[in-house]
Amino acid sequence: MSSRFDELRIFTGNGNPALAQAISARLGIPMGDITVTTFPNENIFVKLNESVREKDVFVIQSLASPLSDRIMELLIMLDACKRAAAGRVTAVIPYFAYGRTDKRDQPRVPITARLLADMIQVAGAQQVITLDLHAGQIQGFFNIPVDELSAMSLLVRYFSERAWNDVVVVSPDMGFAKRARNFAEQLGAPLAIVEKRRIQQLALSETHEARVEARSLIGEVSGHRCILVDDEISTGSSMLAAADLLIAQGAREVYAAAVHPVLAGTAAERLRDSPICELVTTDTLPVAPEKRWPGLRVLSVAPLLAEVIQRIHSGVSVDTIFRHRNPALG
Ligand code: R5P
Repeated sequence: MSSRFDELRIFTGNGNPALAQAISARLGIPMGDITVTTFPNENIFVKLNESVREKDVFVIQSLASPLSDRIMELLIMLDACKRAAAGRVTAVIPYFAYGRTDKRDQPRVPITARLLADMIQVAGAQQVITLDLHAGQIQGFFNIPVDELSAMSLLVRYFSERAWNDVVVVSPDMGFAKRARNFAEQLGAPLAIVEKRRIQQLALSETHEARVEARSLIGEVSGHRCILVDDEISTGSSMLAAADLLIAQGAREVYAAAVHPVLAGTAAERLRDSPICELVTTDTLPVAPEKRWPGLRVLSVAPLLAEVIQRIHSGVSVDTIFRHRNPALG
């Protein structure tokens, strides 16, 4: 099908260039020529080194570390595309940061996820593609189309290929229970849920080890292989506390699956040295070589994002991708 826009072009900043390259290779188009650099005074400078007039532009930027710089790069790239008269500008944000600051759950706090959504729109995004938001309702912080995809099916497929018949899927907290249930249904496995409490929300220790307590377990795990599943691993504390509880309750082996490998501070080291046999994640965020260990498996979301970009460019529905990924939504 032909597009109502001119040529498809993709650009990236420094959020996750390897993922952007993989998407571009999959689409069979070269990366757009762009300069994204920082002046000595810390001002970020962006220049599109090719015309985007009337083109269908996709700006790929994962909100990785250093986070504030990556956010500014994204905003400035969007602004550059808008001012260069692009036909349409789509922000492709594989990992949307600040998703956990999505409500006023204590006095005098901001809703930073909403602020970020506002900034992305003001900068020039006309639509957004993202993956596994911390909460689906964040879609509604935007007044432009948001296609939220899920990489959960990649993780499900990875484990279903193991053909284990003694698996229990475990949600590391109540908040993720519904999505963990969908994961369990797709694997044909039962579900267990950990009751998690965060002891220290704001002031993290020097090692960024957020204090988390896994208090109790709903479900039976004794003698089973457990797969802990979550949207992201930040400090790793949620997964580690849950893994210890599962081992204490007689689990045979513990695996972990999470879409977004934030791996803040010493998370990688702590996970490597933990009872978790294997952590399966994706490349929505870059994982530095020093944060990799033999038990870390990174699956690529590039084919999924490339397909969605191609469909959106061609004006073809992405509905079948959503259905395929989440047959058990409800
Ligand atoms: C929290 O609600 C999220 O779903 C994750 O459980 C959380 O982001 C993990 O954080 P951490 O790895 O720091 O425990």
